Amino acid sequence: MSIERIDTAELGRGGPVVGVQGFGAMGISDAYGETDEAAARDTLEAAVETGVTLIDTADMYGIGRNEEFLAPFIAAHRDELAVATKFAIERRADDPTYRAIRNDPAYIRTAVEASLCRLGVDAIDLYYMHRRDPAVPLAESVGAMAELVQAGKVKHLGLSEVTGAELREAHAIHPIAAIQSEWSVFSRDVERSAVGAAAELGVAFVPYSPLGRGFLTGSFSNAAELQNNDFRRLMPRFTGDNAAANAALLTPLREIAADHDATIAQIALAWVQQRARVHDLTVVPIPGTRRRARLLENAAATRITLTDDELKKLEPIAAQVAGDRCADMSPTSAARED
Ligand SMILES: NC(=O)c1ccc[n+]([C@@H]2O[C@H](COP(=O)([O-])OP(=O)(O)OC[C@H]3O[C@@H](n4cnc5c(N)ncnc54)[C@H](OP(=O)(O)O)[C@@H]3O)[C@@H](O)[C@H]2O)c1
Repeated sequence: MSIERIDTAELGRGGPVVGVQGFGAMGISDAYGETDEAAARDTLEAAVETGVTLIDTADMYGIGRNEEFLAPFIAAHRDELAVATKFAIERRADDPTYRAIRNDPAYIRTAVEASLCRLGVDAIDLYYMHRRDPAVPLAESVGAMAELVQAGKVKHLGLSEVTGAELREAHAIHPIAAIQSEWSVFSRDVERSAVGAAAELGVAFVPYSPLGRGFLTGSFSNAAELQNNDFRRLMPRFTGDNAAANAALLTPLREIAADHDATIAQIALAWVQQRARVHDLTVVPIPGTRRRARLLENAAATRITLTDDELKKLEPIAAQVAGDRCADMSPTSAARED
């Protein structure tokens, strides 16, 4: 069966040209319970077949295992892919609870070498600062990232979970190709300042968790249904009364999905694509899946157009969501908004 390829977009001015939907690889090695690795490899092949070419990982996913898992796939398709990875969240294999945010130049220089080695590439196409440590001036951290570009180890720079003001400051130090933050029908705090700044500066937006970490697909309605090692069990909006209240918010998505003969996952993905158009912003959402059929389903969402009435119906949802999007909001951009 031939697969219809998705459209492409430029990721920031002069950035790589990628499919308008990318691939989030985190769940293969972290956060969302056990993975069937053969199915995950087949899903990656489906991504490249359908033009989903921005592959998103981070050094902290599985403490390096996610980058290592991707290496053979990247080697087989190097010219077709844009490989994005991230530094800043330090983890240790001998202490599962240890986490520190590191933005200091010495750490960045060490982290990039480790990622290059695990990914098996000469250069990383897009290198993100995963979290911001406000104690380190952006002149130092983004300055160190800019040196990696000059050294040819990194092609383009990105930032994750930054405010609009932080994005502007960083962009003045070195052009930023993309900002990656959580953005979905359920999570819209980025619209306070980051979205507008990105649109104005010509920085692309890469919404992470565009399916609300799976909740917007209806595949679970309470974290208690998930495996014991699933990280979503700690997320306030998926537990107890919050989960029940939030599951009820999916009704308009279900109604719209029925009208389009689509799934609610597809409507959630179509929403983020279209919401970005309101801001005249290039957007490349990176839903994560370990199943070929879901990858194709998600890619097909790029061809769905929602009507103005449908967008209006989805508009009030985010304000009604019960519970924060993370167990600890302190490292997110929302915590640093004025
Ligand atoms: N920068 C950051 O701080 C940050 C934070 C979180 C995530 N990310 C990146 O963003 C990517 C995506 O975010 P995410 O994985 O957290 O959340 P997501 O894409 O919103 O949702 C992923 C979940 O939805 C399920 N799913 C995917 N497509 C589906 C479909 N069509 N029908 C039913 N279920 C479906 C997946 O299960 P299966 O895998 O079983 O299909 C998985 O459990 C990550 O992989 C990572 O690369 C970045």
